[in-house]
Amino acid sequence: MAFLPLCIGDSYSVTSQNGIRLMTFNIWQSGKNVEHGQQKIAKHILLVNPDIVALQEVYANVTRNLTLMLGHPWVAVERNHEYPDTAILTRHVIVPNTNLSTTGGVGAKIMLRTGYMVHFWSLHLDYTSYGPYAANNKLVDRLDQIMAGENVAASGRGPQIYEILNLPMMKKWMEKSDDVPIFIAGDFNGPSHLDWTEQTKKIHGDWVVRWPATKELEENGLTDTFREIYPNVLTNPGITWSTVNKFNPEWNYTIPEPQDRIDFLFYRGPVVPYQIVTYSGCEKPQRIPFHEKNDYPSDHFAVFADYSFM
Ligand SMILES: *[C@@H]1O[C@H](CO)[C@@H](O)[C@H](O)[C@H]1NC(C)=O
Ligand SMILES: *[C@@H]1O[C@H](CO)[C@@H](O)[C@H](O)[C@H]1NC(C)=O
Ligand SMILES: *[C@@H]1O[C@H](CO)[C@@H](O)[C@H](O)[C@H]1NC(C)=O
Ligand SMILES: *[C@@H]1O[C@H](CO)[C@@H](O)[C@H](O)[C@H]1NC(C)=O
Repeated sequence: MAFLPLCIGDSYSVTSQNGIRLMTFNIWQSGKNVEHGQQKIAKHILLVNPDIVALQEVYANVTRNLTLMLGHPWVAVERNHEYPDTAILTRHVIVPNTNLSTTGGVGAKIMLRTGYMVHFWSLHLDYTSYGPYAANNKLVDRLDQIMAGENVAASGRGPQIYEILNLPMMKKWMEKSDDVPIFIAGDFNGPSHLDWTEQTKKIHGDWVVRWPATKELEENGLTDTFREIYPNVLTNPGITWSTVNKFNPEWNYTIPEPQDRIDFLFYRGPVVPYQIVTYSGCEKPQRIPFHEKNDYPSDHFAVFADYSFM
């Protein structure tokens, strides 16, 4: 299978009849940090041209703007909370009343125009107590300090995954996953246990960490698409954080920002992934504080992948 250039032109062809292209895209406070941010979000979605996109950092009323800009036949479903934060956009059909909302995101059943069905989640796990900051802090000497944001009851990133996996409807989706694939896409605000290994601990503050969110998904039969296609963490780190944060703003840009892979596309079911790309448009984004005119409107790389149905 031919590989795409990292920069995609308008002419990029649509996915095949028996395939699906999925994208996860944290839209950095709904585009408010760059000029014409919302238009640029829509533009980059159309350039990648996914069948379904998982959005994070979706503010109130922004989904409607985006679907209007994307045009027919794009539709959306948002998380059903006081403000959406996560949304799913698709150029296919969202099956009515199949949407699930949790603290961590929104899920729905989607019927592709090609006849295939999928179950799809857009997640944005809690951002507090970001593990890589603790791991890179020389004053931290215990694993539980690094895990502070992972296992906190209800709000931790691990429990947020547990909540989703234990929804009665999600359990039904899992039972049916031999026929209808499940995709879990999103910004986990945490790295993968597959990346923080003995082999890589030198670049992770000398820590090996079994990050629970990714581990729980693996234990439930979900596969991390990027690490399946690129098993070598050293040659293909797959960094998604960050396009613009190279130095940490909380420390007045004097300390390097840890760069990590925290945006994921997980799958379970009868599909085979054959390509995955971390995407930040065609122009190199300028780092903070020179980001305002960036063509690519996010502080995260988006990730998109192509799968064939079996
Ligand atoms: C925008 O969103 C808020 C909160 O959901 C809602 O109260 C308001 O009516 C919306 N405004 C428009 C113009 O849709
Ligand atoms: C939606 O788009 C309109 C027109 O560009 C803009 O005025 C409005 O602020 C946008 N809404 C939100 C919630 O950003
Ligand atoms: C999402 O679920 C709510 C009920 O929880 C329902 O009112 C709404 O219509 C659903 N949205 C879609 C797009 O199915
Ligand atoms: C951050 O850096 C700026 C510019 O060098 C300086 O003026 C400011 O005092 C610094 N702030 C802190 C809290 O160190």
